[in-house]
Amino acid sequence: MLIKSANASDVKSSEITPKSLFDARRQFLRTAAIAGVGFAAGSIAPPAFARTGRGKKLAGVQPTKWTQDSLGEDLTDYESITSYNNFYEFGTGKQDPALYAKDFQPKPWSVVVDGEVDNPGTYSYEDLIKPHKLEERVYRFRCVEAWSMVIPWVGLPLADLVKRLGPKNDAKYVAFETLNDPERMSGQRRQVLEWPYREGLRMDEAMNPLTLMAVGLYGEELPSQNGAPIRLVVPWKYGFKSIKSIVRISFTKDQPPTSWNMAGAREYGFYSNVNPGKNHPRWSQAKERRIGEFLKRPTLSFNGYEEDVAALYTGMDLNKFY
Ligand code: MTE
Repeated sequence: MLIKSANASDVKSSEITPKSLFDARRQFLRTAAIAGVGFAAGSIAPPAFARTGRGKKLAGVQPTKWTQDSLGEDLTDYESITSYNNFYEFGTGKQDPALYAKDFQPKPWSVVVDGEVDNPGTYSYEDLIKPHKLEERVYRFRCVEAWSMVIPWVGLPLADLVKRLGPKNDAKYVAFETLNDPERMSGQRRQVLEWPYREGLRMDEAMNPLTLMAVGLYGEELPSQNGAPIRLVVPWKYGFKSIKSIVRISFTKDQPPTSWNMAGAREYGFYSNVNPGKNHPRWSQAKERRIGEFLKRPTLSFNGYEEDVAALYTGMDLNKFY
């Protein structure tokens, strides 16, 4: 993804690692580690083979109509979902979040709710989610960098949370912020983005039944590298809209500023709906590489969720509002 700093070269789109190369490199690192090969400082990233431990099982998770069977696609394996990440607060490399979020303690956690809302305040994570039933939903997840996964999320519909918080009539958008704490998030010591990471949705997008506040995956608590303890998942939009480790939810009258749009408005729009017909200025969006597969597959309009969400954009020119 585009980045403003002089270190842009380490995250250029041309360096999106195909899974085969990624695996080969990981295998090399594993083998080297087992063989006790040392790495000269700075010559290579620390080995990323540290297998992420499995999280705590979440209780009472309800099944939904969004199952693997109804989607008809294979799930991406747990290890790939938790070791190939974008989470710049922990570094810009795909393996950095699993490595550098390893010791991150997501709890205790609280979320500030403010702006145009009837029930503002600081909610503990538990108070925020306790009144809601957790659901499992298997969604496609499409990164703007043209790779994708199929992830069995656990979460609660954002619409239910929004209704409970009680937006006022003039709340037209919902804005989100990630924790800003360079002590705990080492990637924030570099100004690769303007921290905190920010995202936002129009109110009707937030209220769409597909939009999820995820707290887990594969039936377990979210690993830190995937945005513990609570993140957004908007399956018809490019992955960067799905902001991780949320500490603020604000109800606003105006369209809120969003991180990637601030970093490069020509490349990353506010809407960022998955659109195979609208290329990124530097690469095609017509196809994607499903992590774990070799051949690219065609990208689906709205990531395959067109029936559920196309009506949100009636009358809008989606080439202009990309
Ligand atoms: N949220 C925060 N706070 N920081 C980030 O760097 N990266 C985004 C999104 N949410 C990001 C974030 C991008 S670009 C993608 S593709 C997804 O998280 C990746 O989610 P995953 O690592 O769980 O697959």
